[in-house]
Amino acid sequence: MSGIEIDRRLPEDFFSAALRDDVLKGLTADPKWLPPKWFYDARGSDLFEEITRLPEYYPTRAEREILTARAPEIAALTRAETLAELGSGSSSKTTLLLDALQAAGTLRRYDPIDVSEAALLASGEQLRRRYPQLTVHAVVTDFEERLAIPDADGGPRIVAFLGGTIGNLLPEERAVFLTRVRANLRPGEWLLLGTDLVKDPATLVAAYDDAAGVTAEFNKNVLRVVDRELTADFDPDDFDHVALWDAQAEWIEMRLRARRDVDVRLKELDLTVSFEAGEELRTEISAKFRREGVESELAAAGFALRRWWTDGEGRFGLSLAEGV
Ligand code: SAH
Ligand code: AVI
Repeated sequence: MSGIEIDRRLPEDFFSAALRDDVLKGLTADPKWLPPKWFYDARGSDLFEEITRLPEYYPTRAEREILTARAPEIAALTRAETLAELGSGSSSKTTLLLDALQAAGTLRRYDPIDVSEAALLASGEQLRRRYPQLTVHAVVTDFEERLAIPDADGGPRIVAFLGGTIGNLLPEERAVFLTRVRANLRPGEWLLLGTDLVKDPATLVAAYDDAAGVTAEFNKNVLRVVDRELTADFDPDDFDHVALWDAQAEWIEMRLRARRDVDVRLKELDLTVSFEAGEELRTEISAKFRREGVESELAAAGFALRRWWTDGEGRFGLSLAEGV
């Protein structure tokens, strides 16, 4: 029992229907692809947490460094009463913001929003213990399909979107998404956006192809999700994990490459999908940003960049933007 209220914003059958649609579309396309949101069942959410502790995966540590230094300034500038967080996952870095907003005396409410109910339940338990007085209103939704940032009367809100998760959307998806976030806010409310930055390819590729193989397991987890939910017979061992840097698009691509000719039966869809040896399935892009690009994407969606911070090594950027 987590002790937090979980608000399910999607119809009962949304996840199974959306997964069926995505799998049908993605696995019959050429080249094949699947959207990254399906990584995050309970196991996928745990694997992502393990990734954040890997020596090669710097974004979480870099963003934590920025938040540690800047949370009091964010609290003082925004005087937010509500913190809503998209793709909140474990909420572990969020405690830095919650602590600063509490110390400033303005915080009343935290709304974590995630597609993973398992992640919300696990983090809810810890939040309840750490902030017994705080109203925590957790929302299970797909923020692309139904954004569902809860209304909150009273003082200003910050919407946080941390970790660089915005980079998992394609550029055109980002534009739609940021415009919707802006439409959910009143002028003068805030977006706190974490973006991983362009850097040398060796560092980037290592962050997505760690020596311990945790990212490979995370990548292959999407096959386990499809197997379970759609009664399919993917064997994750038939695929190799691939991470590559696309210098033109400035994103990392994760793929799964078939080790041999593979036929997969998806019973629920009455579909057989064939992979030739060497064929690749794209499972994620993770875009890397520059300050100018972030600023202009924010401006196009109706946000003015008020603060831009990076960690000491300039690996990760945190933007505080105001709805105008
Ligand atoms: N913000 C955390 C977690 C990042 S992992 C951090 O910075 O460490 C990405 C999170 O976004 C996961 O918890 C995943 O479940 C969630 N997520 C991914 N796609 C989503 C979608 N379409 N809608 C809602 N949540 C999503
Ligand atoms: C959640 N997201 C920002 C992570 C990223 O870095 O793109 C997901 C991830 N994929 C592989 N490792 C981590």
